[in-house]
Amino acid sequence: MQILNSQLQLNTALNSLRALKKTIGFVPTMGALHDGHLSLVALSTKETDVTVVSIFVNPTQFNDANDLKNYPRTLESDLEKLKPLNVDYVFVPYENEMYPEPDTRVFDFGNICEVMEGKHRPGHFNGVAQIVSKLFEAVKPNKAYFGEKDFQQLTIIKQLVNDLKLGVEIVPCPIVREPDGLAMSSRNMRLTPIQRKNAVLISQTLFESINLAKTLSVGSLIDWVIKTIDKNAELEVEYFEIVDDIRLMPIQLWSEQNNKVGCIAVKVGDIRLIDNLTYKL
Ligand code: PAJ
Repeated sequence: MQILNSQLQLNTALNSLRALKKTIGFVPTMGALHDGHLSLVALSTKETDVTVVSIFVNPTQFNDANDLKNYPRTLESDLEKLKPLNVDYVFVPYENEMYPEPDTRVFDFGNICEVMEGKHRPGHFNGVAQIVSKLFEAVKPNKAYFGEKDFQQLTIIKQLVNDLKLGVEIVPCPIVREPDGLAMSSRNMRLTPIQRKNAVLISQTLFESINLAKTLSVGSLIDWVIKTIDKNAELEVEYFEIVDDIRLMPIQLWSEQNNKVGCIAVKVGDIRLIDNLTYKL
């Protein structure tokens, strides 16, 4: 496993492998790696010849300066976790490598970047599109692996690849959860023990809502989920929406043909957690 800091080093290493017709799998991350990230890496090493993992806390996707400041940075232990996984290259660029000058590009993906996370974190997805397009340019992967945990991000990346005709196959990977159900997240490590205990109510409520969906209308189910979580004094729902998985438009009726995904964001103190699940009705 080689650790590279510059795009030049990366190009040199990958060009010779491409010449040998090796397929390249890419897993972009912001570090603070947990089993969710590692599941993406494991799939990439299984499906491709060469796996590149990037670790870069991308400043342009943080709309909250405190969130950026407090984002966990654990490079040493991240590298330890990647070592046994047959990763070929870890790309760890410095900020001026990715942004030698400010990136002024504005991406317009319409509705899919305006709702939910887009509404509550203005500019977030523009920053994600900026860095992912730059990373794709640097790595030129055949396949790139993204978690369904960030469902809206995954939808937007698929659109980005389509719009810019990047020719990268996007591979969605299922959400990895803690044994009690909480979706794994780098932000979980910032929860106090009490917040951590209460946070389980998010996934618990989502799982229970699957059964209730058989008897409640879409609107009543949404109200129930929000009320159930908000009853806990530690938690505050920012949004809970049930949307289709392509355009992210609100579902009105369970009888609709679209895949129906319930997406939630919850504030636990000053930490924001997201989760989602699919209703198969
Ligand atoms: P980060 O939050 O580090 O996540 C990196 C990848 O891991 C994303 O594709 C995310 O969906 C996936 N992931 C996180 N938690 C997961 C879980 N519990 N189960 C399955 N997959 C999980 O997402 C980003 O970084 C950034 O926005 C990035 C794409 C790297 C651009 O900066």
